[in-house]
Amino acid sequence: MTRRRTKSEDEVTPESLYLRRREFIKNGALAAATAVGVGSALSWLVGQAPPPDPPAGVAITGYVPASASPLPPGDATTPYEAVTTYNNYYEFGLDKNEPARYAQGLRTRPWTIRVEGEVARAQTIDIDTVLGWFPPQERVYRMRCVEAWSMVIPWLGFPLADLITRLEPTSKAKYVELTTLADPQQMPGQRAKTLDWPYVEALRMDEAMHPLTILAVGLYGRVLPNQNGAPLRLVVPWKYGFKGVKSIVKIRFTETQPQTTWALAAPTEYGFYANVNPAVDHPRWSQATERRIGDLTRRRTLPFNGYADQVASLYTGMDLRRSF
Ligand code: MTE
Repeated sequence: MTRRRTKSEDEVTPESLYLRRREFIKNGALAAATAVGVGSALSWLVGQAPPPDPPAGVAITGYVPASASPLPPGDATTPYEAVTTYNNYYEFGLDKNEPARYAQGLRTRPWTIRVEGEVARAQTIDIDTVLGWFPPQERVYRMRCVEAWSMVIPWLGFPLADLITRLEPTSKAKYVELTTLADPQQMPGQRAKTLDWPYVEALRMDEAMHPLTILAVGLYGRVLPNQNGAPLRLVVPWKYGFKGVKSIVKIRFTETQPQTTWALAAPTEYGFYANVNPAVDHPRWSQATERRIGDLTRRRTLPFNGYADQVASLYTGMDLRRSF
């Protein structure tokens, strides 16, 4: 994502990655993936079978399973290993395989969430209180990164709408802003000025209240790994992945549109809305197609990441080329 990286995954264009992967397969040179510095996280890219069970993590029991498969054929879930080793979490490093290594020390208990702004009562809530209010449900969603790769992830979480309703925002609340922990001691990436820390994202209230929008607390039936944003992260499946702010410590309701981290860092590249839109390219990445992690060929990107039927009406009358 960043404009400031020198050696990075985003220099590995999807095309060259594809060619390199074919080379790996041809040579049977899986080990070369690490040798050329692409990182061990690529082992699952070269046709390795996914592990039969999530290899680690604390199981979450008693959740409501995803009902009849919500995904069309061809949308198999991405292996657990890929979901948990190919991450964007700049607080723990710029390379995709760094968060899995460096986020393990993040302390996710005790953990509180501050609620403030246009709300009936400002308060600080313990994460376990929140978890007690909302038993997790399984949601299998596509995730499309603005870098033009995608995954399918079986999340566990609860509708953000349920929490918002309980918090009672005032009639002035038009937006909800969510903020990641700021703690350079625990988050070495925050010691560098890569971004304006802490990471902040926000939604318009109708987007936040949409039933597809969830706060995730787990994936693959397990407690959310730190690198994926433990203990609580946002998931908005029709938007680019960068809207999915991780390790949330603050929820603020506002009357005006909040400043968000990537839109602030590069306003011509990242918009507030960030709806997945194959018709509007990013300056460095065509958004017309995507590389589904684990697939050998690219696939077309769908408007609103395939969720147009559910969400397009939120944007009636808006010019989505300008409000990108
Ligand atoms: N949240 C924080 N706090 N810091 C980040 O760097 N990266 C975003 C988003 N949330 C990021 C973040 C980006 S660019 C993406 S694509 C997703 O997290 C990646 O989520 P994943 O690592 O669980 O796949």
